[in-house]
Amino acid sequence: MRQLPAFDPLAEFEQQVGGGIAEIADRLRRLREDDTDWLGDGEHWSLAGAQSKFTLRALGDGWGIAHGAEPSTHIVKPGIGTIPSQALIEHVSMRATAALGLRVASTLYVEFEDQPAIVVTRFDRRERDSRWERIHQEDLCQALALDPSRKHESDRGPGIARIARLLRDASGPAAVDEFGRAVIANYLLGAPDAHAKNYSVMLAGSALQLAALYDVASGLTAARDGRLRFPRAAMSLGGERSFGDVSGRHWTGFATALGVDPDQVREWVLTLAQQAPAAMADTIRALPPRQRRRPELRQLTARVRLLSELTQRRLDDTAPGRRSTGPTGPELLADVDR
Ligand SMILES: Nc1ncnc2c1ncn2[C@@H]1O[C@H](COP(=O)(O)OP(=O)(O)OP(=O)(O)O)[C@@H](O)[C@H]1O
Ligand SMILES: [Mg+2]
Repeated sequence: MRQLPAFDPLAEFEQQVGGGIAEIADRLRRLREDDTDWLGDGEHWSLAGAQSKFTLRALGDGWGIAHGAEPSTHIVKPGIGTIPSQALIEHVSMRATAALGLRVASTLYVEFEDQPAIVVTRFDRRERDSRWERIHQEDLCQALALDPSRKHESDRGPGIARIARLLRDASGPAAVDEFGRAVIANYLLGAPDAHAKNYSVMLAGSALQLAALYDVASGLTAARDGRLRFPRAAMSLGGERSFGDVSGRHWTGFATALGVDPDQVREWVLTLAQQAPAAMADTIRALPPRQRRRPELRQLTARVRLLSELTQRRLDDTAPGRRSTGPTGPELLADVDR
């Protein structure tokens, strides 16, 4: 049997975007030193978000920083420094979400010299006659004309019902279904940051469509004093947000908010929960050995598996009222593979 060459993301990145590795490494190094240094001189772009980042532009034989009106094609994020292996965790979370059958922006995890980063291909770009064009995108705060400070439902931001109404009115039921499955996938991966600015819509011609998913990153490995640092989903799922504690009656409430038949939602939850552990494990297994052996990734696999088990076990729990005894979902999750 012919031995396949090992997958080398740096080589793939160089092929896609060209050289300039040392310059990117330098830029990442500076970003890490000064978290606010993400808008270089003369650049014209405005990606909001909590994390420092910069964009690149694919050129025929190299990469460039987009100046003035030139569209960039990739986003480079160094990952959140206080969470070990965060860029890699974001990359595997995105890939696992894609393995679950959702539309996700494609990513590479690249170590530029000593600088780890996630390189995200922009979904709001299109190449036409060898020119890059922008496609109009708005995140859900913009689309709902809400101040960005209201991205979290807990800060008077939009929840499932309001977003579903927007998508149904402006796009149609398929967009609502896609959004519903995306929320479930984020929950099953323990991604705590799926707020209104981490979903976008795109305007293609006169039609509005949900953009590919981005900024999907599990928080299940981050701990503080032996507890999960991010124990909850950003949006309420039928009245519950804690990972591992969403049960059948919450999913029914979620279905009502979404405006989708509860049996349909139940089937999505069951199928995605059955698939999530393998989606994560297979994604991690496909990484180069040095990366896949990181302890955070082993922990991630174990916790995603438990979260899926809890979700399936609690799916048939339709009794009203709070579970009063026993450890909570986040407590159980924190106990796995510490
Ligand atoms: N693949 C992509 N294509 C186009 N635009 C994107 C893409 N990924 C992100 N964006 C835009 O950039 C913004 C910031 O990106 P992102 O959400 O990934 O970073 P962030 O919120 O700063 O990260 P984090 O929450 O991890 O700190 C998004 O709100 C979205 O508008
Ligand atoms: Mg974001």
